[in-house]
Amino acid sequence: MIFYSVKLNLWIFKQTERDIIKLYNSLTPYVRTAVNDSNDYMLNFGYWIKNSNDAVNAQHELSAIFGKFARFNTVEMIADVGSGFSAPAVQWRSEYPHLKIFCVDINYMELNTARKKIISPLSPSSLAACDRISLINASSAMLPFGNDKLDMIVAFESAQHFQSIDNFLEVSRSILKPGGLIVLAIPVVDLKLSDNADNQNVGIVKKLKLMKKFGILYFSWASHHYDIDTISRSITNHGYKTEEFQRIGHHVYEPLSNYYVRNRKNIRRRLIDSFASYKQRMYFEFVEYMVYRSALKMKDLSMNGSLDYVLIRARKDDLR
Ligand SMILES: C[S@@+](CC[C@H](N)C(=O)[O-])C[C@H]1O[C@@H](n2cnc3c(N)ncnc32)[C@H](O)[C@@H]1O
Repeated sequence: MIFYSVKLNLWIFKQTERDIIKLYNSLTPYVRTAVNDSNDYMLNFGYWIKNSNDAVNAQHELSAIFGKFARFNTVEMIADVGSGFSAPAVQWRSEYPHLKIFCVDINYMELNTARKKIISPLSPSSLAACDRISLINASSAMLPFGNDKLDMIVAFESAQHFQSIDNFLEVSRSILKPGGLIVLAIPVVDLKLSDNADNQNVGIVKKLKLMKKFGILYFSWASHHYDIDTISRSITNHGYKTEEFQRIGHHVYEPLSNYYVRNRKNIRRRLIDSFASYKQRMYFEFVEYMVYRSALKMKDLSMNGSLDYVLIRARKDDLR
């Protein structure tokens, strides 16, 4: 049991989609207890104004910035793939009332909670704003839409978990209307390696370099470590033209890490109180120490430019 939890938290073994579902099911309750806001259902890192002490505000800020970056005012039918509890979609729907949003997530528990706790309890006036949010339980690998159906597909801090970002870009291309947009918010690494697709050793060199540089974060970061250049190349290879690209990592990792360090004592206390058994507490001590060390490492890597967070908006190239 403990081995399985550790395996889930560490990026030692290749993770399947089922593992990602289990990871979120096991970690989300603790993240929510740590943030200590029963109304907060967002699962992103947030966009922080330096040394802000408000995690929930930072997450709403990131959603707002993403909406502006994506230009939601110019589109109507969108799919949010990896929508989590649909909290970002509810915010976008209230900011852009004309939007019709399909929230797609692989995790049924999150969608069910979204339906029961976020969308159904809305007041009648906000219900009008939510009648155009649909919840769909599906994977990024098999999106259940016909060809040329959507104006935009977004992956808001979720594409780093997809088994294959190439497959997601290819599937999305056929679903998007001509000239449709794909918009990503995604954590990336920047190893500054001059890459050459013909050189088979580059993959291994990258992996070793990443392991050395990222240390504990290489193992505790439970998702793909996509390189900025790899993502840009995939976007082009799958028939999109990048319209805008923004690096916002300095508003994410350093202030988030500072927030954790400042609030560590309170967060620890809240979490320890939520554990019933001695065994759970012991396991928590181990995991929390890893989270703490990872937060410090994340700050270092962000400050030296090896870790970043990017917003990418790319248009389907109809001439391909
Ligand atoms: C970091 S959370 C972000 C959730 C949401 N965008 C937010 O900001 O609150 C990543 C989400 O992606 C979902 N996810 C991971 N892999 C997926 C896949 N292959 N297809 C669809 N959703 C996936 C997870 O279940 C999780 O809800």
